[in-house]
Amino acid sequence: MLSLVVLISGGGSNLRSLLEAAEDAQYPARVVAIGADRDADGFAHAEAFGIPTFTVPFTSYPNREAWGDALLAQIQGWQPDLVVLSGFMRLLPARVVRALAPNLINTHPAFLPEFPGAHGVRDALAAGVPQTGASVIVVDDGVDSGPIVAQRRVPVRPGDSEHTLHDRIKLVERQLLVQAVLDIANGTVNLEELATT
Ligand code: GAR
Repeated sequence: MLSLVVLISGGGSNLRSLLEAAEDAQYPARVVAIGADRDADGFAHAEAFGIPTFTVPFTSYPNREAWGDALLAQIQGWQPDLVVLSGFMRLLPARVVRALAPNLINTHPAFLPEFPGAHGVRDALAAGVPQTGASVIVVDDGVDSGPIVAQRRVPVRPGDSEHTLHDRIKLVERQLLVQAVLDIANGTVNLEELATT
């Protein structure tokens, strides 16, 4: 059974899809703790599923490194097999990435390497592309630049707003994330190998 720590910053709908998947006894992963860099709305899902939480507020630390060290200590306290960044909107310091890699994955609302960064949906709309996508990647020390675990295309529809497009992407993202964690747990995807290719 793969143990997961999931980090969020917002509503946590991707997190919820993992919590729902893990209700099935056959699903080979369990969320052991949920962390955030702020008082995230998604903690409501933690409460609903009885999962412990921790908050490491960015603004409570003198710099990114000190914040990262505190976050890492919290994560490591749970001894997870895999850490999932699921709408976690802060860049991790390099030493945190190094400590957790390659067992550190991130979901992103674009077909990477297209539209990396904090505004993947907005940037795809602004570019006027007919399709964008969703990706799950291994985190490396760049911005959304790590090896692809899974990704799928999502069409952009005429009249889409950032909100409608993001909602359509998230439907796909949730499926990708649940499948990616399943594939990692059963060995179909090997993160060590992905990270070295
Ligand atoms: C997701 O679309 C995720 O890919 C995105 O934030 C959303 C979180 O939704 N993350 C990024 O853009 C990271 N660069 P959720 O809180 O409802 O799961």
